[in-house]
Amino acid sequence: MSDQVPIIGGTGALGYGLALRWARAGRTIVIGSRKPERAAGAAQKIAGEVSGAQVEGLENGEAAQRGPIVFLTVPFRAQSETLNNLRESLAEGQLLVDCTVPMAAAVSGKATRTLGVWQGSAAQQAQEMVPEGVTVISTFHTVSASALAGNDPLDQDILVCGERKADKARVAKLIEDIEGLRAVNAGALETARLVETLTPLLISVNARYKAHAGIRITGLPDGDHWS
Ligand SMILES: NC(=O)c1ccc[n+]([C@@H]2O[C@H](COP(=O)([O-])OP(=O)(O)OC[C@H]3O[C@@H](n4cnc5c(N)ncnc54)[C@H](OP(=O)(O)O)[C@@H]3O)[C@@H](O)[C@H]2O)c1
Repeated sequence: MSDQVPIIGGTGALGYGLALRWARAGRTIVIGSRKPERAAGAAQKIAGEVSGAQVEGLENGEAAQRGPIVFLTVPFRAQSETLNNLRESLAEGQLLVDCTVPMAAAVSGKATRTLGVWQGSAAQQAQEMVPEGVTVISTFHTVSASALAGNDPLDQDILVCGERKADKARVAKLIEDIEGLRAVNAGALETARLVETLTPLLISVNARYKAHAGIRITGLPDGDHWS
C-alpha cells in the first residue's frame, strides 16, 4: 500500500486542520467525505493554501483504501455508522486511528458533557467495529482544530494509545511530521477512556482563556523514545 494518508471526515474541523499541516509537511493526503464533491472541494481549498500540496478528495470508502494508516475524524455520534459503512473498505493490516471524542453537543452556558461508552472509550468501541485484522490506535484528542488550521507555530504533546508500541510508533511518525507536535506513548488502548475526557477539559479551559491551548507532559527524557 502507498504512503498516502486517508482522513475520513477530512472535510470537518479536525480532519481539515490535520490535512493542512500534513500537506505543508509534504505528505500525500486523501480527504474522505460522504460526498465526493465535498471532499474534492476541501482538497482544492488545501491546494490553494499550500503550494505544491499533494491532496485529493474522495468518497470515504474509496479514501479508506488508499493508505495503510486511516484517520477517523467524525463526530462521535457518526462513528458507528461511518465504521459500518467502511466494513468493505478497511482491510487486514491497516491501522484505524480514532480521533473521536464521546461528547454531547455543547449547550450554551453549560459545561461540555462526556458520554458513557459501554466498551469504555470511543477507541475501544471502534476496535469492536472494525473488520478482523484492523488495529485501532487512539490519538489527537487534545489538539484544537483551530490551532491546526491557523498559522501560529504549534508547541504541544499528543497522547497516543494502543496495544502495540510498533503500531503507535508508525502513527507517532505522522504526528511528529507536523512541526511542533511531540507524540507521547500514553499506554494501552483502554487508556483512551482517560485521554478522551481531556477534550472537554481543554474546551473548558480554552473558553475561559479564549485560547487554543493543548497539553504538555513534563519531565520525559529527551530524544527518540519510539525506536
Ligand atoms: N474540533 C476539534 O478541535 C477537535 C479536537 C480533538 C478531537 N476532536 C474530535 O474529532 C472528531 C471530529 O471533530 P470535528 O470538529 O472535525 O467534527 P465536524 O467538523 O463536526 O465533522 C467532521 C466531519 O464528519 C462528517 N460527519 C458529520 N456528521 C456526520 C454524520 N452524521 N455521519 C457521517 N459523517 C458525518 C462530516 O463530513 P462529510 O459531511 O463531508 O461526510 C464532517 O465534515 C470529533 O469526534 C471530535 O470530538 C475534535
